[in-house]
Amino acid sequence: MHIVAAITGATGAVYGITLLRELARANVETHLVLSDWARHTIELETDYRASAIDALASHVYSANNLAAPIASGSFRHDGMVIAPCSMKTLSAIANGYADNLVSRAADVTLKEKRRLILLPRETPLHEIHLENMLKLARAGAVIMPPVPAFYHHPTTITDIVHHTIGRVLDLFAIENDLASRWEGLE
Ligand SMILES: Cc1cc2nc3c(=O)[nH]c(=O)nc-3n(C[C@H](O)[C@H](O)[C@H](O)COP(=O)(O)O)c2cc1C
Repeated sequence: MHIVAAITGATGAVYGITLLRELARANVETHLVLSDWARHTIELETDYRASAIDALASHVYSANNLAAPIASGSFRHDGMVIAPCSMKTLSAIANGYADNLVSRAADVTLKEKRRLILLPRETPLHEIHLENMLKLARAGAVIMPPVPAFYHHPTTITDIVHHTIGRVLDLFAIENDLASRWEGLE
């Protein structure tokens, strides 16, 4: 399996990092792009240097490299995840404004009818954010804001992050025990 992964400059870099770690554990080949602002948020929010994130992926491309394989629809993959996805990148994708490799790879993913999963992060949301999400949902993207659940009684940030990333892996049918599953009431 081949998955394109992108991290943008919304808060929550830990979601993208956790996704990369879990995909590596599942032996999935990953193609990673970090936006310029992701490089800042990674260093502001986590103990990682942005350069160390590259080591978690199978292939890494510069956000400015619009000639990378993932910029073309002829490159075959099983889907793309942007975690977290800023409102700026969300807007670029919703409006076909493919000026960097994150938005171009997402644009191509949509046009080739491959799975595009976005973990958009902002609050509160104004009408333009919501319209962009609706546009993308109508174009086939999965809009999956990293909103925590509490029915599994999370006690750490890791519990919260794992739950969301487990649900992302579920969308690709990648076996995982990150997301505790609701067993129903007796
Ligand atoms: C610490 C920090 C947190 C941010 N959090 C968010 C956020 O949650 N959502 C968002 O849309 N933008 C957020 N931003 C702003 C984006 O980084 C900015 O809009 C940037 O242009 C996004 O570019 P990119 O999508 O290419 O990474 C944040 C910026 C910083 C420095």
